[in-house]
Amino acid sequence: MDFFNQGWQAVACSEDLPLRHVYQAQLLGQELALWRDDSGAVNAWENRCPHRGLRLSLGVNTGDQLKCQYHGWKYETGSGRCLFVPAHRNATPSTACVRQYPCVEIDGLVFVKLDKSDEAQTSNGYQPPTRLPSTNLRSTPAAMAADVALRTIMQARQSLAPVIAAQADSVQIQTNGLMLDLGGTETPDKLRLFVQPESATTSVVHARLYTATQTSFARKVAFIHLMEELLSLAEQCTGLSQKAKIIATDTGHSSAQPKPTESDSRKPFICTVIAREIETPDITSFWLKPDDDRALIIDPGMHASVVTPAGFIR
Ligand code: FES
Repeated sequence: MDFFNQGWQAVACSEDLPLRHVYQAQLLGQELALWRDDSGAVNAWENRCPHRGLRLSLGVNTGDQLKCQYHGWKYETGSGRCLFVPAHRNATPSTACVRQYPCVEIDGLVFVKLDKSDEAQTSNGYQPPTRLPSTNLRSTPAAMAADVALRTIMQARQSLAPVIAAQADSVQIQTNGLMLDLGGTETPDKLRLFVQPESATTSVVHARLYTATQTSFARKVAFIHLMEELLSLAEQCTGLSQKAKIIATDTGHSSAQPKPTESDSRKPFICTVIAREIETPDITSFWLKPDDDRALIIDPGMHASVVTPAGFIR
């Protein structure tokens, strides 16, 4: 059985998991807390503390343990075993253990499978579409089931031709489960897309571009616009809409409920993240594009709410 038919699903890009960070994802309705320990190994855990059920994605990644924010229980990387209970410092560790899921990191992406029955099966057999250098493009959320998102992309594949520097009528696709490869007859470039089934009605499309030429900023931005256009058109057809946005405001009010008396200059800015760069393990730069015609003014003390591709607010 090949990699994708073993149940592995892409749930995050490697850059989503810098050291000392906890990333929340969702696969088929199951919330996950993903975190990388200081040795680089990735843990995929049920997003629920075995003690009183707090989300572990709110916890602290200490490098070799994940500490729950509620009562401070600490769980060991790899095994998920509880090693420390603050209220019983001198007692033997609790038998509590976090539920873990098989997890592998390959070619810049993190894959998880919920079915542990054939855990012995590994990632053997995963093949990138080509040996060309590759980079992740921005993941795109879609308010639609994974199979609908996959079908939407397949039907509109010609619109993605510029991303692989191909002619629209030469674009070819190959699918394997929820993975899709795009290529063109006159270009060696390949675009590999993974549709992550978050729930019955939402999904995230992860993308990896393989190209010998440098992936320019313009090409990355073109991809973001094409995917957003493609998926939001399909969302409108289904009457659903859920986009990744940054809402920057100094008003303390959400964009959905602006104060009626606010002057234009103090209205919240709703922006799209058009690119991001990991500067250091602790610092990420975001490029924001306001959704209206106003120039984005960042004042000291402003607050930014980030809606992640998975739909969570940070
Ligand atoms: S709920 Fe996590 S330590 Fe109590």
